[in-house]
Amino acid sequence: MSFQIDSRLPDVGTTIFTVISQLAQEHNAINLGQGFPDYAGPELLHERLEHYARGQQHQYPPMTGIPALRQRVAEKVANFYGYTADPEHEVTIVPGATEGLFCSIQACVKPGDEVIVFDPAYDSYVPAITLAGARSVHIPLYAPHFQIDWQRVKEAITTKTSMIIINTPHNPTGMVMSEEDMQALQRLVRETKIVVLSDEVYEHLVFDDQVHQSVLRFPELAERAIMVSSFGKTFHVTGWKTGYCIAPAHLSHELRKVHQFVTFVGVTPIQLALADFMQACPEHAEQLPTFYQAKRDLFADAMADSRFTFTPAAGSFFQLMDYSGISNKDDLSMARWLTTEIGVAAIPIGLFYDKPPESRQVRFCFAKEDETLINAAARLSAL
Ligand SMILES: Cc1ncc(COP(=O)(O)O)c(C=O)c1O
Repeated sequence: MSFQIDSRLPDVGTTIFTVISQLAQEHNAINLGQGFPDYAGPELLHERLEHYARGQQHQYPPMTGIPALRQRVAEKVANFYGYTADPEHEVTIVPGATEGLFCSIQACVKPGDEVIVFDPAYDSYVPAITLAGARSVHIPLYAPHFQIDWQRVKEAITTKTSMIIINTPHNPTGMVMSEEDMQALQRLVRETKIVVLSDEVYEHLVFDDQVHQSVLRFPELAERAIMVSSFGKTFHVTGWKTGYCIAPAHLSHELRKVHQFVTFVGVTPIQLALADFMQACPEHAEQLPTFYQAKRDLFADAMADSRFTFTPAAGSFFQLMDYSGISNKDDLSMARWLTTEIGVAAIPIGLFYDKPPESRQVRFCFAKEDETLINAAARLSAL
């Protein structure tokens, strides 16, 4: 009998993103599954990385991130959300939003605590809560609008609740939280010790002239929140795995204690390149909603005659589609079938619920070249 340990995460397998991406590769399917673009980031950004890759700065950067990049982030949130962040004490550069989320949870959540998550939930939250020794309290969001039921949240809060994790724009549903949602959240956490962990990696992907309701716009929330974002999503470079956390000094201090022993730092030339690019092209983020809305609309138009039904996503680069007019398969079987037989990879959403509802929806990523989207839609429309 070989040596074995008791797993700390017995229910966790390989993520569905890896499983579907591997299947897509094996079957040469168009990959609308995993959330990454099939186009490069801005030319200047790549040029700056090349510049720094050939330069002299290849040692550890400061634990909290390159000062120039923290400064650019502080300027960006001042510009977008009217929030003044002290780059020295309140902005932390992390190697990917996933690391920032993990460290935030480990820093703020104790064994025996409860953390409220909204299902379908991005798959890194629950394992991080489990490793902190806490319990995830799941509140489901349902089709077609996936709105948060605040009465249900109120009933779920107990003396053990130490954190609520929100994600807007939301992966995988494309839902965006409204100003009323944020005010409802603000009312519920007032007078409590609950930390709000706000996953805003799609902060610049909000469509139809809506405004992204960052937690940083709400002073009462911001004083108890950690806002997490990802340069990967904003600059089309998900593989660069670089993100940032913004939180008041006392929360940042705790977060940094964990970050310094998880990864310590992010990659030096990448941070330098991002800082240069953000200074040279501050308008990049402002143009993203138009860029992605055009992709959403192109994909929606190309799918208009298909037997899939959908409401155009309000945000993110994901489009949920209902396939009940095509098949009775469960969503995991459907996603596999689409990938292996139809040649278009998709992600099932049931896996992101604690108790999956009866729904026939899969998620497609539209962060793809127009031609990719048109080819995928042609295959899907033939069903
Ligand atoms: C909701 C959400 N949060 C966090 C992340 C992770 O971002 P990063 O690649 O910067 O770790 C993703 C990536 O898909 C995501 O969709």
